[in-house]
Amino acid sequence: MVEGKFSRRSLLWLGMGALGTFGACQLGRSQEVSSPLTMQLGEHGLKTYAQAQGVLYGSAVRFKDLKADPEYAARVAQECGVLVPEWTLKWHVSHPESPPLRPAPDQFDFTGADWIANFARTHGLPLRGHTLVWYNSLPPWLAETINAENAEAIMVNHIQTVAGRYAGQMHSWDVVNEAIAHDPTRGRSDGLRETPWLEFIGPDYVERAFEVAAQTDPDALLVYNDYGLDYDTRENDAKRTAVLKLLERLKNKGAPVHALGTQAHLWGDRDQFNARKLQTFFRNVADLGLKIMITEMDVNDKNLPSDIGKRDQQVAHVYQEYLTTALAEPAVIAVITWALSDRYTWLSEFHPRADGLPVRPMPLDNNLERKPAWESMAQAFASATSR
Ligand code: XIL
Repeated sequence: MVEGKFSRRSLLWLGMGALGTFGACQLGRSQEVSSPLTMQLGEHGLKTYAQAQGVLYGSAVRFKDLKADPEYAARVAQECGVLVPEWTLKWHVSHPESPPLRPAPDQFDFTGADWIANFARTHGLPLRGHTLVWYNSLPPWLAETINAENAEAIMVNHIQTVAGRYAGQMHSWDVVNEAIAHDPTRGRSDGLRETPWLEFIGPDYVERAFEVAAQTDPDALLVYNDYGLDYDTRENDAKRTAVLKLLERLKNKGAPVHALGTQAHLWGDRDQFNARKLQTFFRNVADLGLKIMITEMDVNDKNLPSDIGKRDQQVAHVYQEYLTTALAEPAVIAVITWALSDRYTWLSEFHPRADGLPVRPMPLDNNLERKPAWESMAQAFASATSR
């Protein structure tokens, strides 16, 4: 947290709080948030239900979709209070329709990110950045170029150039993504994932990244983002322990980390959700003085029955169960879904169903209609304690 000064960030939160109060009154007076909430296309999108309690809701977006699909773009503007580029603020993506940010060691291509930044600005929406330092989605030239002498300069230059370009527009940045190993019980005692950044800069690359990001954009909330923190399993227990240890180390060293981002890529067919464990973990994170953002939420339905009604109800149940639990923690300030609609979810490509039916993980369906998952989210926001 930036102590003392009334930073733009705290003004943003203050504004959200005021809007939230207003929103609550409005919802209380003119739009009773009663169950079942209207799933008809009312003027209140998910962002309004969330803002009424001081929570920010938004989704990942791809500029090619926003550009080519005005009906979708309009629904994004109606439902979302913050946008995060799914691809164009990563170093590199292997999606031909999206120009890579870093085509060469001395080149940046901001075409896609600028387009989304302008779209967000046009609709009065803040952006969140994903992600400045990650082991994945790195350009082919990096492996041939990076070494112990130049690694820190390459990382610092990237952060300064990219975060510097959008300084003042960003709600938050995923400064470092997935720095903890998939299974932290193996490998290093600090649980850090073997990455080029660790190899050539050393374990302090994490705090160095946050220091540079804070110098470059002092108004953005700086987030450590990771996955596998959701369930009551040996692997997720170990991941939560290792992430907490990393956050404690960063805080003890005075690194400017402001929030944990938990990706929350959930599964419709997993029964290992333990509300108490998740809340204890979130409380332990909050006790470090950190906020918590749910940064990439979706509910994978690949192993659920083909029947759409059954699938939608189970997906909605998982959204409701997780969000009701998470939002009971006042430090949880934002919920981002890793798409808004089934029409544009990464799970279609990464986790297709064996029966070949389209996946249905998101709050809106392929026709941009609200689903039971939308209602579960709206209900979870509406019944959350105000923050
Ligand atoms: C994914 C995108 O959604 C895909 O389209 C891309 O091909 C690979 O990356 N955790 C993360 C995200 O932090 O950046 C990943 O996004 C999903 C897992």
